[in-house]
This record gives sequence, structure tokens and C-alpha cells, in this order.
Amino acid sequence: MARLSSLLYALAAAKTAWSAALPSDQQPVATADVIIIGAGISGIAVARELALEHNITDFLILEARSEPGGRAHTESLTNPKTGHVTKVEKGCNWIQGPRRQNITKLAKKYNLQTAPQDYDNRTWFEGRRGVDEADTVDVAAGKFVDIDASGLATLYDDISSRILDFIQNRLDDMEVDLTARTGLSMLGWRPKTALQRLYEWVNVDFTTAQPPQVCSLYNAFEQEDYVGADEPEQLVIDQRGYKHIFVEELNAALAAAAGSPASQRLHLDTTVTEINWSPSSPSRLVHTNRGLFAARKHVVSTLSIGVLQDDRVKWTPPLPEWKQEAIFSFGMAVYQKIFLLFDRAFWGPEQFTYYADPEVRGRWPVWQNLNAEGFFNGSRDGYILFNTHVDAEARRVARMPDEDVRAEAMLKLREIYGPDVPEPLDILVPRWDLDPLYMGSYSNWPLGQLDQHHWNLRQPVGKRKEVVFTGESNSREMFGYVQGAWEDGKETAGRVAGCLTGRECPSSLVYETIKTCVEAGSVVKRFEGSWY
Ligand SMILES: Cc1cc2nc3c(=O)[nH]c(=O)nc-3n(C[C@H](O)[C@H](O)[C@H](O)COP(=O)(O)OP(=O)(O)OC[C@H]3O[C@@H](n4cnc5c(N)ncnc54)[C@H](O)[C@@H]3O)c2cc1C
Ligand SMILES: *[C@@H]1O[C@H](CO)[C@@H](O)[C@H](O)[C@H]1NC(C)=O
Ligand SMILES: *[C@@H]1O[C@H](CO)[C@@H](O)[C@H](O)[C@H]1NC(C)=O
Ligand SMILES: *[C@@H]1O[C@H](CO)[C@@H](O)[C@H](O)[C@H]1NC(C)=O
Ligand SMILES: *[C@@H]1O[C@H](CO)[C@@H](O)[C@H](O)[C@H]1NC(C)=O
Repeated sequence: MARLSSLLYALAAAKTAWSAALPSDQQPVATADVIIIGAGISGIAVARELALEHNITDFLILEARSEPGGRAHTESLTNPKTGHVTKVEKGCNWIQGPRRQNITKLAKKYNLQTAPQDYDNRTWFEGRRGVDEADTVDVAAGKFVDIDASGLATLYDDISSRILDFIQNRLDDMEVDLTARTGLSMLGWRPKTALQRLYEWVNVDFTTAQPPQVCSLYNAFEQEDYVGADEPEQLVIDQRGYKHIFVEELNAALAAAAGSPASQRLHLDTTVTEINWSPSSPSRLVHTNRGLFAARKHVVSTLSIGVLQDDRVKWTPPLPEWKQEAIFSFGMAVYQKIFLLFDRAFWGPEQFTYYADPEVRGRWPVWQNLNAEGFFNGSRDGYILFNTHVDAEARRVARMPDEDVRAEAMLKLREIYGPDVPEPLDILVPRWDLDPLYMGSYSNWPLGQLDQHHWNLRQPVGKRKEVVFTGESNSREMFGYVQGAWEDGKETAGRVAGCLTGRECPSSLVYETIKTCVEAGSVVKRFEGSWY
């Protein structure tokens, strides 16, 4: 398999042969029934499902990066003393709800190395310092706190255990959605101290990557049911990367498709700039930095909500208003992990150290130990800590040079572990919200996005479903997750296959205008949509 896949990549990476005989730049480089935009998890799921489940192989994949995987993106930390490289996950890292997910089956199939995460294996530190050296003058040192003795955990956990009932009762009474902040407040949670704000961050923002005053109460919490909060999450520590399981599935799909007409299915380093989906045109025209590609039937977009919101790709004609309203109503959150490599572990055995910044909620909030027992176990090749922050803090840090990020991280670490903490050997600072291929990390459901908006987000545009949309954001149950991207890609491929084979191409229901609900009934009956 390794041999075959490198051959396929060599083929894919080779520059498209451009025939000099072609009369104009309007002549497509390649044509296929289906063009899939993006070779992330959902794009791979589409290709895999078409080729291996539906025997449809006339597709092309256009991917801007030089490798597949998308937000499943593995990076390196290098120990300059030994030259040893450790692979860490810049993007997705965990398998959530492992037992019931198909991702677990894939992980087993490829023997992906993971370790169970224990969120109770943690310490808490109350900070006493800002991000400026000068702030250290005249203030007492910070201290570790016993979260159980503080009573804080019991208070929050009691509220959190009641929140799903609170939501269900409101839904039964047809009461409107609220923000997660309002819901928590009404149940009696009113954080005042830095530690309380941190505890809330850990329970809300650490997952949603947006603050509770933005999140939809109905959709920010209920998701835990689907992803299986009751099962230990598995952290992927495989040195082949999380992407490995998806890349292998892509290779299988490409191998199955190799014999069909177009010789080249995966076009890497190919950035889409414009999609002409005009229903009057005989084919869909996809403009890229490597020329024009044509789809006889469907274009499948896996572009992130962030990319769609930021006009990174031009739509000709513009997307219909109902589609735009759905796109702009959804949230693209920023979740960012800063990795630091050290030559010794100066921290404890626990998996997490939570840091309560006295000034800013969510500033350097959680340090995670990759050398905890069962993970990398510690080695002469280096010890890794990483900090996760989200939203405004992630955007702030992303705009700082690496050197300043390192200095700020060191100030915080020396506050917790003392002045002898050594300088890091390497640092990795992802900048997801500045990356034109993503414009953020993953989607989140804000107050204001209604079910009809999310439904519309998933609907194709064009009379013959010229453009079909998929991606993590489109999964109703598991938006924001690897599973969401994978399952939605598979489902979408099933629908595309139905249309292509003429077996079944159902009309789609679209809510062209979404109105305030005034009468009782189920969601679908309440809102008028059109079939086309
Ligand atoms: C930091 C971070 C941490 C995460 N942690 C977890 C986790 O622990 N567990 C979990 O389940 N999920 C996690 N996720 C979410 C998960 O990674 C995503 O849900 C999933 O990878 C999205 O896959 P996708 O195919 O929908 O989108 P993408 O991966 O974004 O795929 C879209 C593809 O399109 C390409 N592209 C973009 N623009 C263009 C263009 N103009 N032309 C051509 N190609 C283009 C991109 O390069 C990309 O390959 C995390 C994400 C991030 C960023
Ligand atoms: C797959 O499709 C090809 C041509 O489209 C056909 O020759 C082949 O028999 C099909 N295979 C299966 C298993 O249906
Ligand atoms: C797993 O995949 C199967 C086959 O595609 C699908 O029917 C099932 O719904 C998936 N399970 C989950 C939990 O998504
Ligand atoms: C965390 O786990 C390690 C290793 O099992 C153990 O030594 C340590 O005591 C645990 N700490 C906490 C706070 O649970
Ligand atoms: C760490 O040690 C555990 C228990 O000894 C072992 O199961 C695991 O494979 C080790 N992990 C690595 C990355 O070496």
C-alpha cells in the first residue's frame, strides 16, 4: 500500500500537462462528473464513499495544500540537540465518544495509537500575575488550589447536571433559545472569581471555542449526548498523525478510481478561486491557480464556514440569499494549541494544569502534559507541554511573533513552576484564524442560528443540485468534530450517487425566508419552505 500511495501522490503532485494546442484559457484542464473541492476529512469521505460504496469513479479532487488531510494536520517539534522529531497534532487531536463512532473502527483498522484522556487527572493554579514582567512587583505569588475543597466543582457540576432537563422543558413549552450564559445564570451559576471563570471556561469554551454569551443554549450543550461525554476521549499520539487513517482511505479510493477515464484524480497545490455554477451553463466551471476544471454534474464544496464567510472563493452567480443567511448565521470558532518542547519535565505527573488568570478569562488557561503516563511517557528526546486557548485570546496570540508568544508562555510557566524553568527547545504556534484555507478552527452554533438556517446550510443550490455542500459544519449532531466531517461526507456522497445514477435524486426543501414562529406545531410545519 505504501508503494502504491507514493506513486499516486507522485502522479497527483506532477504538474498538469497543459496542451499547447488548447485555444484559450477557457479550455478545462480536466473534466469529470463530480469535482470535490478540498481533500480534508469530508472530501476524503465523499471520494471514498463514491468509489468504494457506489462504484462511481469519475470524480476529481482539488486541494490547495500539498497534502491531503485538511484540519487533520500533523506538525513537527524538533529537538535541536538530538535532531529528534516528535509529531504533534496542530488540528484535531481526540476521538470523542470512541465506542460508538466509526472513527474508532478506522483507528482500529490502521492500528492508530491513542491514549485515554482523564480530565479528572488535573491540578488548578490561581494566578497572581499579568503578562507583563512589571506586574510581578508587589504581588504575592500564585498558588495551587484544591478544587474539590473549594466547593466550586460541586456547585457547577450540579448546575450542569440540570441543564439538559432545563433545555428539554423549555423546548416542550416552545420557549425560545437563549445563550448558554443566560441558561447558566438562570440555573444559579454566577461566576465572580478568576477561578470560577476558569471552571466555566473549562466546561464551556474548551469545547465550543466560543464564550457562553455567544453559544446557543439549545445546541451548545445537547451535543455532549451525541459525542458521548460519558466515555473517555482518546488522544491520538500516533507518529503517523491523525490524518493517517483518512489518507489511507483516500488512497484506497484513488486506487479504485485509477482505471477510470481521467488519469489524475487528486490535484494538490490547486487553489479554487471561483466557482461558476450557472444552471444555464452545460457544466460547472471551477477556476484555480492551475487553470479551469469542469464538472459535468456536481461540484461538492467542503469549504469551511470560515472560508465561505470570508469570500475566499467567488460564486458566480452569487449564492442565493437563503444560503448566505445560513452561512453568515453560523459561527467559526478559533481553538489554538501552543506546543512547547523542553529537555526536562519540570511539571507534575497529572495530565492537565488549569491556570486561572486574574485579569483575563481564558488567558493561557490549560496546560496539557503530553508526557503523562500512558502518553509519550517521557523520553530523552524531549518533553512536551501544550496550552490551548480559544476565541479572542487565540486571535490575540496568533497576531504576536513566535518570540513574544514564547516569552509570555515562559512568564506563566515560571509563575507556576518557579524561576528555574528552562527555555523551550522548540515552539509551535498555529494561526488558524489567519489561514485563508480555514479562517478559524471549527464551527460553533451561536444564538440566532435557527434549525432552518442549519437545514439550509446543508441544501444544494441549483435546479439540478449543481453545487452540493458538506463538511463538519453541516452535521446536525456532530458539527465541529471529525465524526461530523466524516459522516456528513459519506451521507452527501450517498445523495450525489443517487442523483448521478438516476436511482433517486430527491427534491430538496429550502426555507427561502425564515419567519418568527407564531403558531404551534413541529419545526417543519411551522416554517414554510419550497421544494425544488
Ligand atoms: C485546532 C483544532 C482542533 C480540533 N480538535 C478536534 C478534536 O480533538 N476532535 C474532533 O473530532 N475534531 C476536532 N477538530 C475539528 C476537525 O478537525 C474538523 O471538524 C475536521 O477536520 C473538518 O474536516 P472538513 O473536511 O469538514 O474540513 P477541512 O479539513 O477544512 O477540509 C477542507 C479542505 O479544503 C481545502 N481548501 C480550502 N480552501 C480551498 C480552496 N480555495 N481551494 C482548494 N482547496 C481548499 C483545505 O485545505 C482542506 O483540505 C479540531 C479542529 C481544529 C482546527
Ligand atoms: C463498476 O462500474 C464499472 C463501469 O462503470 C462496471 O464496468 C463495473 O462492472 C462496476 N462494478 C461493480 C462492482 O458494480
Ligand atoms: C457508521 O457508518 C455506517 C455506515 O456508513 C452508518 O450507517 C452509521 O450511521 C455510522 N455510525 C455513526 C455513529 O455515525
Ligand atoms: C494523575 O495520574 C498520575 C499517574 O497515574 C498519578 O500519579 C497522579 O497522582 C494523578 N494525579 C491526580 C491529581 O489525579
Ligand atoms: C507508555 O507506557 C504505557 C504503559 O507502560 C504503554 O502502554 C504505552 O504504549 C507507552 N506509550 C508510549 C508512547 O511509548
